[in-house]
Amino acid sequence: MSADVRIGPDDVRRRKGGVPIVCLTAYTYPVARLLDDHVDLLLVGDSVAMVLHGHKTTLGASLEMMIAHGQAVMRGSAKACVVVDMPAGSYETSTAQALASARQVVDETGCQAVKLEGGVDIAEQIAAIVAAGIPVMGHIGLQPQSVEKDGGYKIKGRTEENVAALFRDAEAVEKAGAFSVVIEGTVETVAADLTRRLAIPTIGIGASADCDGQILVIDDMVGMTVDRVPKFVKEYAALRGVISDAAARYAAEVRSRAFPGPDHVFPATPSRDKA
Ligand code: KIV
Repeated sequence: MSADVRIGPDDVRRRKGGVPIVCLTAYTYPVARLLDDHVDLLLVGDSVAMVLHGHKTTLGASLEMMIAHGQAVMRGSAKACVVVDMPAGSYETSTAQALASARQVVDETGCQAVKLEGGVDIAEQIAAIVAAGIPVMGHIGLQPQSVEKDGGYKIKGRTEENVAALFRDAEAVEKAGAFSVVIEGTVETVAADLTRRLAIPTIGIGASADCDGQILVIDDMVGMTVDRVPKFVKEYAALRGVISDAAARYAAEVRSRAFPGPDHVFPATPSRDKA
């Protein structure tokens, strides 16, 4: 890894209306190493609770979990702007709680920004964190932290009332000082309208190709998700099959004693030793 200067939140903000901003989630050191050359932004999403830890929803994420994965992604990247999600329960109660959690995340990981889910309801928290000098990415539309409250993963923007609420949320997040906003699970035309309306970049997931950037969960993108794969995902590889084939071949070779072979053991003659 070279010690390149990282892309910062201000660089991301300046990309409004320009070449689309490439974002992926990352949770681990090796994956961050592999993605860093190809993306503008790595999100340590609270989806980690589902993807790596097997929880049913993102409500299984804790501040400690986000910080541990944020540290790993920072160690594995040198160029990408790294954003760490604030998990449910770490920011909703008050501006003081939100600020303390955001400070802890940034101090302990060194990440460039934090992300919070919500609009009008958390605008004060966003403004307080931004005023303290910590860049914030917003997240509107389908909000996975509210999935139990909403009664499932419901696409947003299908009623006039809901569209109006989306615009209020988008404007509140922008006014509070967010440098960009994720729009998730929202009707395509509404996401495109929101993108035109806002002066900050929109990052779409299940939204619109007109958004200023796109994000996917890394395990979805490489075809490694073992549970439900959402409709908006495009799989660019098929790692589920690669991993399970490798495991099947390994198991067969262990059982037949074909592995380890001569290249994978240390013979008595030291000249052939290579750790
Ligand atoms: O947690 C996450 O991975 C996210 C993205 C899907 C935007 O919030």
